[in-house]
Amino acid sequence: MHQKANHKFSVMDTINFKSAILEGIPEKLPTQKPYNPNVNHAPKRKDILTAAEKKLALKNALRYFKPEQHAILAPEFLDELNKYGRIYMYRFRPEYEMKARPIEEYPCKTIQAASIMMMIQNNLDYAVAQHPHELITYGGNGAVFQNWAQYRLCMKYLAEMTDEQTLVMYSGHPMGLFPSHKDAPRVVVTNGMVIPNYSSRNDYERMNALGVSQYGQMTAGSYMYIGPQGIVHGTTITLMNAARLHKNDGKIKLFISSGLGGMSGAQPKAGVIAGMIAVVAEINPKAVKIRHEQGWVDEVFTDLEALLYRIEKARLNSEVVSIAYQGNIVDLWEFFAEKNVQIDLGSDQTSLHNPFSGGYYPCGLSFEESNQMMAENPELFQKKVHESLVRQVKAINKLTANGMYFWDYGNAFLLEAKRAGADIVGQSGDFRYPSYVQDIMGPLFFDYGFGPFRWVCCSGDSEDLKKTDEIAASVLTEIASTAPNEIVHQLQDNIHWIEEAGRNRLVVGSQARILYADSEGRIKIAEAFNKAIRDGIISAPIVLGRDHHDVSGTDSPFRETSNIYDGSSFTADMAIQNVIGDSFRGATWVSIHNGGGVGWGEVINGGFGMTIDGSVDSERRLKQMLFWDVNNGIARRNWARNDSAMFAIKRAMQENPNLKVTLPNLADDTLIEDLLKLNISPDSNV
Ligand SMILES: NC(=O)c1ccc[n+]([C@@H]2O[C@H](COP(=O)([O-])OP(=O)(O)OC[C@H]3O[C@@H](n4cnc5c(N)ncnc54)[C@H](O)[C@@H]3O)[C@@H](O)[C@H]2O)c1
Repeated sequence: MHQKANHKFSVMDTINFKSAILEGIPEKLPTQKPYNPNVNHAPKRKDILTAAEKKLALKNALRYFKPEQHAILAPEFLDELNKYGRIYMYRFRPEYEMKARPIEEYPCKTIQAASIMMMIQNNLDYAVAQHPHELITYGGNGAVFQNWAQYRLCMKYLAEMTDEQTLVMYSGHPMGLFPSHKDAPRVVVTNGMVIPNYSSRNDYERMNALGVSQYGQMTAGSYMYIGPQGIVHGTTITLMNAARLHKNDGKIKLFISSGLGGMSGAQPKAGVIAGMIAVVAEINPKAVKIRHEQGWVDEVFTDLEALLYRIEKARLNSEVVSIAYQGNIVDLWEFFAEKNVQIDLGSDQTSLHNPFSGGYYPCGLSFEESNQMMAENPELFQKKVHESLVRQVKAINKLTANGMYFWDYGNAFLLEAKRAGADIVGQSGDFRYPSYVQDIMGPLFFDYGFGPFRWVCCSGDSEDLKKTDEIAASVLTEIASTAPNEIVHQLQDNIHWIEEAGRNRLVVGSQARILYADSEGRIKIAEAFNKAIRDGIISAPIVLGRDHHDVSGTDSPFRETSNIYDGSSFTADMAIQNVIGDSFRGATWVSIHNGGGVGWGEVINGGFGMTIDGSVDSERRLKQMLFWDVNNGIARRNWARNDSAMFAIKRAMQENPNLKVTLPNLADDTLIEDLLKLNISPDSNV
């Protein structure tokens, strides 16, 4: 018999686990837990509440507990609020190990609820979550719950619920179980929904400190995070397509960027999967060490001459390799610009969304000098950051004039460089370089309906995952054999990815996989999984889902919808329609969030989870819901006059005669321009 890849839990452990879940918030207070300094904790949050508001925060927290426990808990919660800026209720952290267990180990009355419990535990797994004790999965503030009472209550509700009930989640708070029906979602999640005029950063800090709202990021608060695999995949396909856009000559490509942190650390690994020479500069020796030890970086250099020699050797031998330059990216760009090095692809993934508090290290200062200056002399530090960005852009401009294709990686590089006064704005007033969504993700993927489809095997068995990989590869290969030219590359890239995925050992936490597929691909893969479960080839249900960074789920004018040019990129109808539509077409759970990726108030994003168990019901639901979940966004992108989306929605209408989408008529630009010229001519005022 093969080994289950997931943790083995003993019978006793499972019995204790089940009774702890069913107990919910315990009758008897658990013992207080010491603060464990060995766990990665969230930073102290801003102390934003007035004295009166602190009183309110305490009353809010005590709502979860019997009055006779308040005398003990109130001072403890006040201490947490003062020390950490939030009340996490550390005492109520469960004793059992936080891991996605095989689905049969969850106490439940419906398998759908058990699958959601599994996904929640995965988001809080110590190997997956960024700050597990503060219930933060990723992105610094991407919360699953605000406190441990909410976690316990939610898990109890899920264990008790039937197929005739829906659990309602308000920003981590389980409002309760409400009667519904078997085709309704088992859980409806909202995170950070606020009245639009109250969506500033400080509003968030205040409401979160009061315990009434939370930042769900994208897949944190919707229980759909699958570890670093998602970002490796996204970066891989971005690099493959950047290479195609640049020069499709079959020669090995040199890709240069910066950052070996949380998301940026995926770059060298993705570069190798995409068959390139990937060189990534990183100023922090600890970050270099982590990625090198993990095997995501093959070699480390600290000397620029030696680095250049190594690159040229790799280029000569067409050698795929990932290299870290331990040093400042600006030094690297300037050195390569001076030497006129031919670079194919370039980007930047320093954390420029947070430029003055450790996200960006200016050239001319060591790592330690920067850390000291940003705390002791923030004005001078800001000046150094701006000077550094001006130099960085100057070198990049020289290299792009020499043939390099450069793009912004969603890290506010262009925006911050503009603020620094760098030469980054072209003659038309637009940025000199595109963002990765404008040039690559939008027109080549989202507009055709391709997005980050994912699935999790509820058995926790790596053999099941392997079988799903094989099924997905064969479904995509079949689709690719008759696909139109416009989408053949996308399909082939994902076939390449899925064939390599097992070998690349990307699983952290639950047995999960991601690939980009369009509506046809998602539906056919899901149908094939459902059949394999029914036939006993796959041993347990599968959870289907996606990242919110997708075709239809997210309205985000600075990222997902940055290639919408009809003026509607600041509207959020698409994301709201999407979640409503998913919820009545068969999703097992749905979620809608404010914030995520680019910040609170800047984006509305939603997602779903769907548990399929081999039944006829599952087949009906997956067909209905996945078709809507993709085509809603294509319809909107088509209405915005995006070419690829106009093509894709016409294809979808041919496939399904029940789909009737309003198509745009295209106006002649010269007609309008001539008219406007007439309107603004001085004569028209006479
Ligand atoms: N990869 C993606 O698909 C994607 C998508 C959206 C946004 N982003 C953005 O990318 C940025 C990076 O994300 P992250 O999670 O990796 O952040 P991070 O802070 O964990 O990593 C950034 C790294 O850059 C290094 N760095 C900073 N200045 C440097 C310099 N001058 N030279 C060399 N190294 C330097 C830092 O030491 C740090 O390790 C963020 O702004 C994020 O929002 C990435």
